[in-house]
Amino acid sequence: MTAKDEITIAQLDEAGARAAIPALCGILADAVASGASVGFMADAAAAEYERFWEGVVAEVAAGRTVLFAASLAGRIVATTQIQLIGKPNQPHRAEIAKVLVHSQARRRGIASRLMQAAEAEALRRGRNLLVLDTDGASAAHALYTSLGFVEVGTIPRYALMPDGADCGATFFYKDLR
Ligand SMILES: CC(C)(COP(=O)(O)OP(=O)(O)OC[C@H]1O[C@@H](n2cnc3c(N)ncnc32)[C@H](O)[C@@H]1OP(=O)(O)O)[C@@H](O)C(=O)NCCC(=O)NCCS
Repeated sequence: MTAKDEITIAQLDEAGARAAIPALCGILADAVASGASVGFMADAAAAEYERFWEGVVAEVAAGRTVLFAASLAGRIVATTQIQLIGKPNQPHRAEIAKVLVHSQARRRGIASRLMQAAEAEALRRGRNLLVLDTDGASAAHALYTSLGFVEVGTIPRYALMPDGADCGATFFYKDLR
């Protein structure tokens, strides 16, 4: 492997997350442009992406979200989050959110590496039940299945695709015990 291909995974603290906002906005905008249903419509303004990541930084600062970034040759190209459920009766559960890999960096195993890092960190924090959902037609479906997540089912019309078409959400869980 050359330095050009080197993938590094990091957990970002508040300062690191804030510094990464421009890169994270670029990754999110790229995902929307590639047709992924990740919370935004195709005409989203740059300020909407910035507001979203500012919100994530606040959650990181509050200790409710663990944010990961993956870098390829020193440049942030991918991200994901563990959302720590705050309910007293769910101390063992966490949600995985916003698994995003820039379209120029896909199919190199980066999402798999991010998910493995997230699983290890979730376990370290005593969160041994992970839940996530994805657009039923997304490439992420094969990713989660390959990582041992169990498909529960699909809710039709859960959200919209960036172009306004209906988008079902497929729910998965993984019991890490
Ligand atoms: C889904 C996504 C995160 C995958 O990232 P990635 O880094 O390319 O994934 P990996 O290289 O780790 O792929 C691991 C496995 O997942 C499956 N997979 C990933 N992308 C796939 C695709 N486009 N088609 C079919 N299977 C795919 C394959 O089984 C793959 O293993 P292989 O390459 O050995 O065949 C990326 O395509 C992405 O960011 N898409 C847009 C945003 C999105 O939909 N995120 C999920 C929202 S919850």
